[in-house]
Amino acid sequence: MHEKIVILDFGSQTTQLIGRRIRELNTFCEIVPYNKFPFDDDNVKGVILSGSPFSVNDENAFKTDLTRLRSHYPVLGICYGAQLIAQTSGGEVGKSASREYGRAKLHIKDTSDALLGNIREQSQVWMSHGDTILNIPETFRVIASTGDIHIAAYKIEGEPTWGVQFHPEVFHTEEGTRILDNFLTICGCQKDWTPASFIETTVNDLKQQLGNDKVILALSGGVDSSVTAVLLNKAIGKNLTCVFVNHGLLRKNEFETVLENYKHLGLNVIGVDAKDRFYKALAGVTDPERKRKIIGKGFIDVFEEEALKLKDIKWLAQGTIYPDIIESLSITGTTIKSHHNVGGLPEKMQLKLCEPLRLLFKDEVRRIGLELGMQKNLIYRHPFPGPGLGIRILGEITPEKVRVAQDADDIFISNLQMAGLYDKVWQAGAILLPVHSVGVMGDERTYENTIVLRAVTSTDAMTADWAHLPYEFLAKVSNEIINKVKGVNRVVYDISSKPPATIEWE
Ligand code: XMP
Repeated sequence: MHEKIVILDFGSQTTQLIGRRIRELNTFCEIVPYNKFPFDDDNVKGVILSGSPFSVNDENAFKTDLTRLRSHYPVLGICYGAQLIAQTSGGEVGKSASREYGRAKLHIKDTSDALLGNIREQSQVWMSHGDTILNIPETFRVIASTGDIHIAAYKIEGEPTWGVQFHPEVFHTEEGTRILDNFLTICGCQKDWTPASFIETTVNDLKQQLGNDKVILALSGGVDSSVTAVLLNKAIGKNLTCVFVNHGLLRKNEFETVLENYKHLGLNVIGVDAKDRFYKALAGVTDPERKRKIIGKGFIDVFEEEALKLKDIKWLAQGTIYPDIIESLSITGTTIKSHHNVGGLPEKMQLKLCEPLRLLFKDEVRRIGLELGMQKNLIYRHPFPGPGLGIRILGEITPEKVRVAQDADDIFISNLQMAGLYDKVWQAGAILLPVHSVGVMGDERTYENTIVLRAVTSTDAMTADWAHLPYEFLAKVSNEIINKVKGVNRVVYDISSKPPATIEWE
């Protein structure tokens, strides 16, 4: 296992950002609830206390005993973290006239300090606090101030504990990265956590964890499950079986292309063509939620049938990543919800879960994938929903409508690629409406389908803006779809943002 920094999460919105910055400094870190410090973990080199939405004076503020931490590890308290250390050491924290939000100018008082000594004597920092540290015990030394706040940073004499009132993890804190880097140096971190070292450690861990056990994995064609598969393949080879289900609602030629890609990677993949059974189950169904449920259940049924054909499977591997875990990690530390992409199966078949990417962010997964030699087009694919075209064909799904939606989508996506726009949008696709409209082609009146083009920009799919694609580009795509896709005589562009709309139409 790798050395690590533990970030105790007191509920701040920037806790994840602290994690990102530490990882960018090639150091592994884990975010844990404020009261769940892993005292039995020998790899911990230092501790960061995050900010919090609470005031330390609130009755229900998150508190934890810091004595044991402070006697064992270097500690850096950020904002609330700094206030908590001060208050529990006999200092005073309270409301003051001088609270600050936004940018402030930091003045360094002690140029020999290990945390702040080598940064510029004056620089911009980002503040966001209602309370202020008003008094500190005698053993605390002020090492930096701002115009409004005397105790903007302190060091405790005789122990490696620091507190900063500002947020070094935020982009607007000019010397923030250097400060965090200094803290890692103080902790004695090697700063050698790279994609290559992650792969080496994880492959070794997986070998130990899985031994000669057999593992099954549901491939979706997306980056997370693919990277999981390649890592596991490196660790246990033929003991890994991947199942890739064609529910008949994939993109055009996707089943074949993805299977071909996986062959290059040497994976043991069973491709199951189950499209007829899905079309049958979906016949006549128009309600979006029912469609989703039918597709979800069909997927589990097919997967389970395949799993049962294989003997002695012990593990179910999944491409769960860190944001999935953090989102469901309750701050009170009670539960970590498991993300069962193939819900219900682990209990039913008594499978153990194996999630080797569970502590990585998406861009880290991508870097690992590249390091593993995977093709760029697999790594940088747009997200595509599990129910696929099933939620992009509004109303009833028929094989003919799937053909129309696939052909239109294919023209849109390949044009985005040719125009160099594919990587500029978060995701894109074509939606087929259950609406006919009148048109004219040659001398003939037509009465045919409408295709909606949807393309959005986003960073996490929680919010999204419609992509401002050039008119000439949209004109070309529209022409090509109407000319080439039989059954379509009208193309429209969706200019709704999320919220209040969503990315998908169903
Ligand atoms: P919405 O439509 O909620 O989509 O703005 C946000 C992101 O989630 C994807 N999405 C899904 N993915 N199963 C999935 O695996 C689903 O049922 C599903 N619905 C939406 C969507 O493509 C977008 O990336």
